[in-house]
Amino acid sequence: MLDLTENALAILERRYLNRDEKGEIIESTEELFDRVAKSIAEIDLVYGAKEEEVAALHDRFYHLMTSLDFLPNSPTLMNAGLPLGQLSACFVLPVPDTMEGIFEAVKNTALIHKSGGGTGFSFSRLRPKGSVVRSTGGVASGPISFMKVFNTATEAVKQGGKRRGANMGILRVDHPDILEFIKCKEDKSELTNFNLSVGITEEFMAAVRKKETYPLRDPIGKKVMGVLDAAQVFKLIVEKAWESGEPGIVFLDRINGDNPLQHMGEIESTNPCGEQPLLPNESCNLGSINLARMGKDDGRGIDYEKLKEKVHLAVHFLDNVIDANTYPLPEIEARSKETRKIGLGVMGFADLLTLLGISYDSEEAVTVAEQIMKFINSEAKKASMNLAQDRGTFPQYHGSRWEKENMPLRNATTTTIAPTGTISMIAGCSSGIEPLFAVAYTKVCMDEDKLMEVHPVFKRLALEKGFYTPELMEKVKKLGSVSMIKGIPDEVKRIFVTTQDISPYWHVRLQAAFQKYTDNAVSKTINFPRNAHVKEIEEAYFLAYELGCKGLTVYRDGSREGQVLNVGEVT
Ligand code: CDP
Repeated sequence: MLDLTENALAILERRYLNRDEKGEIIESTEELFDRVAKSIAEIDLVYGAKEEEVAALHDRFYHLMTSLDFLPNSPTLMNAGLPLGQLSACFVLPVPDTMEGIFEAVKNTALIHKSGGGTGFSFSRLRPKGSVVRSTGGVASGPISFMKVFNTATEAVKQGGKRRGANMGILRVDHPDILEFIKCKEDKSELTNFNLSVGITEEFMAAVRKKETYPLRDPIGKKVMGVLDAAQVFKLIVEKAWESGEPGIVFLDRINGDNPLQHMGEIESTNPCGEQPLLPNESCNLGSINLARMGKDDGRGIDYEKLKEKVHLAVHFLDNVIDANTYPLPEIEARSKETRKIGLGVMGFADLLTLLGISYDSEEAVTVAEQIMKFINSEAKKASMNLAQDRGTFPQYHGSRWEKENMPLRNATTTTIAPTGTISMIAGCSSGIEPLFAVAYTKVCMDEDKLMEVHPVFKRLALEKGFYTPELMEKVKKLGSVSMIKGIPDEVKRIFVTTQDISPYWHVRLQAAFQKYTDNAVSKTINFPRNAHVKEIEEAYFLAYELGCKGLTVYRDGSREGQVLNVGEVT
């Protein structure tokens, strides 16, 4: 029997276990992990491994996942070893300024969503609203109206799918339609299947600081079409984010500055949750180490030997996924195999802190974050270099930054911090690098039942320290926070600090700490209390910029209806 929570089993049954044509489940949870382990291990045959070596690897991959030390992204769990075989979570598709190109991208989006992947797009190449269309003599409808077409297509594909289709839409801050873009979620029924981010440039940030204007440019030919007051645009972005959490921001120039593949062109977009900047037509598969399982048994510190072993095995796993993958389009297959990007990250960070007895909102937590991620990033690189010795570097290595730095890598990027929205539920740990959202929470899955869980580490600690009572657990479920409950020792309360009680400053500090040692980007929500002031959001944006983050997503409590996670019981 696998050590899975009821919540995890419910999720696996509902969406992950393989089914026959009639919709009947035809595999057990063990069989799911075995199917995935086997199909990913078998790739080693291509690289000359012997049958018995592959059998041993199959076994190691199986234990890597069933121990819940590591899980790959959802599409790999759902589809590996099955005919569909689409294993990646992240895609970026090009949206060119032609009618054929736009609708080709809509079709490709539908194909990717059907297979469980998410799509990101830059709409910055589309000519602005009102420009002349030469072939017809008419006027162009502009990026936002085309985004609505993508949104509607996503809505249609969602029905009957295993996973909601998710999109990221990015528009550069110097696109002439930027004001319409920033305001387009004022109507809450618009673009519901999109996350929106403004692509921020260094030119814009400099103008904000100097309180100057900045130019808007025609995407075709780059002619200056007007100017806007940078500080006012920035203020508008902040106000809208305060109202609805959107748009977010991505620092495009910073992403491109860090891009190790500058010889391949510019990065214009990220995947839906922002953690994976990609070139047009690139895909990436993610996987996350469960830090909740990387503490030493005596609770004193991190088991770095274990962590190292898991990182090396996980990089091997993720590199194999690139070859095991069935790609939705030939151009995506070609691009993805040229760069061989993988995104190894973490989940259960907040759980680890509880094991170490550290509060999330502390310098100690920042130090732990930096130490762990530095270690993972460096071991992931070593693992990727080991693979390159047998398998060769990624085909676009020549001309890349890695070649200049004399690091023969198998993968152009190795680390990414994903949100781990579902896989952390399967692993029964806190999601990604987020603080504990609550000590008990409900989660709406695919708009169906609300599942209730008390945090497993809290429960264990309550039993160990002798303050567990069913009544107390019920109270925790009801309130979601332990701060007001009597009978819980203060030191326990301090380490079970939850999102609502953590200031935005610490949220940003932790995001920046992880970003420092992550190749790609970090998925993180900067939570604000309901009564937060607009100014506080602005401060968080500046702090994120100063600390080297690649983007920022904010959320003010209660500002969006249909919130996925709710603190405590909803009665
Ligand atoms: O936990 P899981 O592997 O299901 O996914 P995640 O870490 O929450 O999300 C990773 C990425 O998967 C997102 O950034 C999206 O690119 C994609 N995704 C999606 O396409 N649709 C969803 N409903 C959830 C995630």
